[in-house]
Amino acid sequence: MHTILSRQQLSPNVTRLDVRAPRIAEIRQAGQFVIVHLDEGAERIPLTIADADPAAGTIALVIQAVGKSTRELVALEPGQAIRDVVGPLGHPTEMIASGRALCIGGGVGTAVVHPIAQGLHRRGVKVTSIIGGRSQEWVIFEKELQQLGEVVVCTDDGSYGRKGFVTDAAKEILAVSGVDIVYAVGPVPMMRAVANLTRPFGVRTIVSLNPVMIDGTGMCGGCRVSLGNETRFACVDGPEFDGHQVNYEELMDRLGTYREFEQRATACADGACRMGR
Ligand code: NAD
Ligand code: FES
Repeated sequence: MHTILSRQQLSPNVTRLDVRAPRIAEIRQAGQFVIVHLDEGAERIPLTIADADPAAGTIALVIQAVGKSTRELVALEPGQAIRDVVGPLGHPTEMIASGRALCIGGGVGTAVVHPIAQGLHRRGVKVTSIIGGRSQEWVIFEKELQQLGEVVVCTDDGSYGRKGFVTDAAKEILAVSGVDIVYAVGPVPMMRAVANLTRPFGVRTIVSLNPVMIDGTGMCGGCRVSLGNETRFACVDGPEFDGHQVNYEELMDRLGTYREFEQRATACADGACRMGR
């Protein structure tokens, strides 16, 4: 069992849980994730390890409450426990050894960018982070990223930082200064937009993909993604890939496959399905 040590609301539907998982905290690397299984019969949920404290034996999980299972997870209070936390899974982030990196986080994806920026900063790479949210209350991990370099905050409505998408700020930085590598994590249209932006500049661009995952072992095929003419499995070959090769349209299509089931499960959890809705 993995006890919840603290719980923090980061934005209206994003929660941070610091969970006891000493072995994972010790060996995890940037880019890796865990699969959590709340209890017997529960869904398995893949979550990036947003941070870790090996001395305290804890890992930080950042969860966007979008469906029945994630809502159950974020409802956990300190002292309660998650039955299984499996990991670290996936390949660690490909890092440059020196130079300048642009780390772009959209919404909850900013939590995934954080360990990447941490790893780059430790190596002495100059990190500039561009983070975005719909409005001020949706911006997360700003203070943590400020410890690692310059941070540009963007909000869609201009309520905080500069007005516009993260791609608007990225375009300006790419046009005026040398960037050696770009990391982008967030909604799929955002990652596609970043890849389209960096392509003409010839800047290597790494994106972290979040397809549906089931077993996390490369066996079920649920997390299949296409890169050029090749098929990859995000759980064992990723989750980070060359952003210029990803077939984003297929990814969006596959992500929509279970939307109806998810909506029904959420409605049933709320009691609505018993009322015939
Ligand atoms: P959101 O929709 O509120 O967008 C966050 C920011 O991303 C925006 O403020 C904007 O700056 C940027 N953005 C969004 N669409 C864009 C576009 N078309 N072009 C350029 N920039 C754009 O984000 P959210 O609700 O926090 O994110 C949720 C999505 O992120 C979910 O779909 C989730 O599955 C995905 N996600 C991905 C990962 C991953 O590893 N790739 C991890 C967690 C969540
Ligand atoms: Fe089953 Fe990746 S989750 S193959």
